[in-house]
Amino acid sequence: MASPANILVALFLAFAIVIGSSSAQLSTNFYDSRCPGIFAAVRAQVKGAVAREPRMGASLLRLFFHDCFVNGCDGSILLDDTATFTGEKNAAPNRNSARGFEVIDAIKASVERICPGIVSCADVLAISARDSVVALGGPSWNVKVGRRDARTASQAAANTSIPAPTFDLNRLISSFQAQGLSVKDLVALSGAHTIGQARCTTFRARIYNETNIDGFFSRNRQARCPRISGSGDNNLAPLDIQTPTSFDNGYFKNLVSKRGLLHSDQQLFNGGSTDSLVRSYSQSSSTFNADFVAAMIRMGDIKPLTGNNGEIRKNCRRVN
Ligand code: HEM
Ligand SMILES: *[C@@H]1O[C@H](CO)[C@@H](O)[C@H](O)[C@H]1NC(C)=O
Ligand SMILES: *[C@@H]1O[C@H](CO)[C@@H](O)[C@H](O)[C@H]1NC(C)=O
Repeated sequence: MASPANILVALFLAFAIVIGSSSAQLSTNFYDSRCPGIFAAVRAQVKGAVAREPRMGASLLRLFFHDCFVNGCDGSILLDDTATFTGEKNAAPNRNSARGFEVIDAIKASVERICPGIVSCADVLAISARDSVVALGGPSWNVKVGRRDARTASQAAANTSIPAPTFDLNRLISSFQAQGLSVKDLVALSGAHTIGQARCTTFRARIYNETNIDGFFSRNRQARCPRISGSGDNNLAPLDIQTPTSFDNGYFKNLVSKRGLLHSDQQLFNGGSTDSLVRSYSQSSSTFNADFVAAMIRMGDIKPLTGNNGEIRKNCRRVN
């Protein structure tokens, strides 16, 4: 009988189903009953790895970014290539560049020992990124978890979805917009370049050919990055010349004094719409920290696999 009350009940049920399926969401307490030890286990491992090599904190943070920007935060970047499977590790932005996979393996192994088959590699990466920032003196936040792991990866998507250091501001903005992230998220997340290193090949054109660069800084960088393509391509330089192992707002101070290492970095302070935000972050680390945390949480929300989608990988390098 289609009485008004029945119609109301039907509408309510339909609505509940829609809400229910779209709210297969991440939460900070997902593992509270399933694996209460997980946060302590990851933190201890990340702390150890960063103590052994401070750059590792940068490398783990970047892995999370490169995971999330390619079909969501689903651990796809962690899958190894095989004879019959092409993953993302040899995509243009990752090849000879993405690092820290052994550390993720070790963290996953220790998590498997305390709660076998429960915690996804995607979540291990998300928590490791937060703990890396904290280990290098940056802000902390509660990480949303409950992601599951992809059974697939996409080299093509990794090639096209991760922004390149040659991008101008408008392409950086659209690359982040394609992920549902704002201009503010772009600027705040770029502050991650306050830690870590880049290879000569990624900044050569900038230090030899660009004019919006401090002269002392470019000469300094040229000393270990030869002009000729092919020589010294893998020589490293810190993305933040002052404090490359401290998560602070030094990146933005560099931009204001035209010491951005990558072309894409300096685009954020080059007379355009993002100048004022860069200036404000350069003057207030608390504003930067708050916006960085909010943006990290938004980035971590990109297209997670939840419910019955995906799987909990046993070994982050291969599907079960
Ligand atoms: C805005 C667009 C971005 C571009 C064009 C870009 C590009 C790059 C490039 C070219 C490198 C050097 C890689 C190498 O030479 O091997 C690098 C390093 C790094 N990036 Fe980005 N990046 C961007 C945004 C981000 C974001 C959003 C994060 C994290 C939230 C991030 C975190 C890092 C870190 C921590 C490193 C140093 C890694 C290490 O030392 O191992 N980047 N990035
Ligand atoms: C991704 O880029 C790399 C390096 O430029 C290239 O060798 C590879 O063929 C590309 N893969 C796809 C699927 O487009
Ligand atoms: C600088 O620009 C010139 C002219 O476009 C180009 O031929 C040269 O390869 C560039 N040099 C570097 C180091 O990128």
